[in-house]
Amino acid sequence: MDALVYGELVAWDPVKKQRAWQVRHDKPSNGGILSTAGDLVFQGTWDGTFAAYDANNGTPLWQYQSDSAILAGPISYELDGEQYIAVAQGSGGTVMLTVGDELKRNKVNQNKLLVFKRGEFNQTRSNALTQTAQDSTLATILALGHKAETNPEIIKKGQTLYGQNCASCHGISAKSNHIIPDLRYMSEQTHIDFSGIVLGGAYAHKGMIGYFETLSLEDSEAIHAFLDDKQQRLPEMLEMSFLQKIEYWFVYWTARLGEKYPDLLNATRDLMM
Ligand code: HEC
Repeated sequence: MDALVYGELVAWDPVKKQRAWQVRHDKPSNGGILSTAGDLVFQGTWDGTFAAYDANNGTPLWQYQSDSAILAGPISYELDGEQYIAVAQGSGGTVMLTVGDELKRNKVNQNKLLVFKRGEFNQTRSNALTQTAQDSTLATILALGHKAETNPEIIKKGQTLYGQNCASCHGISAKSNHIIPDLRYMSEQTHIDFSGIVLGGAYAHKGMIGYFETLSLEDSEAIHAFLDDKQQRLPEMLEMSFLQKIEYWFVYWTARLGEKYPDLLNATRDLMM
C-alpha cells in the first residue's frame, strides 16, 4: 500500500484553475487544514507532526512533533489580544482504522488538546520543537503544557531512582505489562498531578502509595524527567517485529512491482488486503 498511496496538501488557485503548490506526505490520512490571515497554513499528519506552511508557496516554517496522529482540524482564536492555535491529537479516522498498518506498529494513541501561542511562553519540551526557518524575526510558536526537563544528568538520576523504587511494579525500563499503568503512556493530566500521586499518595486508595517519606521533590522530578524522556521516544522504541518487517517489505515490493505490472498486482491483491 505504501508504494501506491500517499497524502498531499494541495493549495488550489481558483482563478488560474490549477495547483498553486503542494506538500507531499508519505501516507494518506492526514489532518484537517487551517489557513490564517497571517498567511500561514496549519496541518497535522498521520505520524504526529503539526506544521505551519507559508500560504503563498507551501514552504515549511515551523513544526511540532507530537506523540500521536493529528487528524482533527485546527482552530485559531484570540484571547486578550494574543493569537492561539488549538488542535486535538489522537489516532483514528477511517483510513487509519481500516488500513492502519501504522496503528498496528505504533500503539501510541495519546489523546490531547494541543494549544500553541505566538511568541515566548511557558516553554515545554523544547527539544521536540524545531524552528525550521532561520529568520530570527519570525515569532516562535511554543506548546503550552507541563514543563519537561531535558538535562541528561537529571534523566540519568531519575532512571536509577526509578529502577530502585518503581520498576518492581511499573516494569523494568518503564515498560509495564499493562496490569499496573505503563508510565510511558501518562496522560497530560497525570503529568500535571505527578508529584501529588508519587509523593502525596493521591492514588493510595488504588494501591499506589505516596513516597514522601523516602523521596524528595527533587527525586520525584528526576523520575518524572526519566519517564518523560521515555514517553518522547516511544514512537521510535515501538519498532516492528521481525515477522512484521518481512510482511511489510513483501507487501511493499509487490505493490511497487504492481505499478509496472498490473497483472501481478491483481494476482496478489488477496495477499495484500
Ligand atoms: C507496589 C507497586 C507500585 C510501586 C512500587 C509503584 N507504583 Fe505507581 N502505581 C501502582 C498502582 C497499583 C497504581 C494505580 C493503578 C490504577 O490506576 O489502577 C499506580 C499508579 C501510578 C501513577 C498514575 C498512573 C496513571 O496513568 O494514572 C503514577 C504516575 C505512578 N504510579 C508513579 C510511580 C512512581 C514514579 C513510582 C516509583 C517512585 C511508583 N509509581 C511505584 C503501583 C506501584
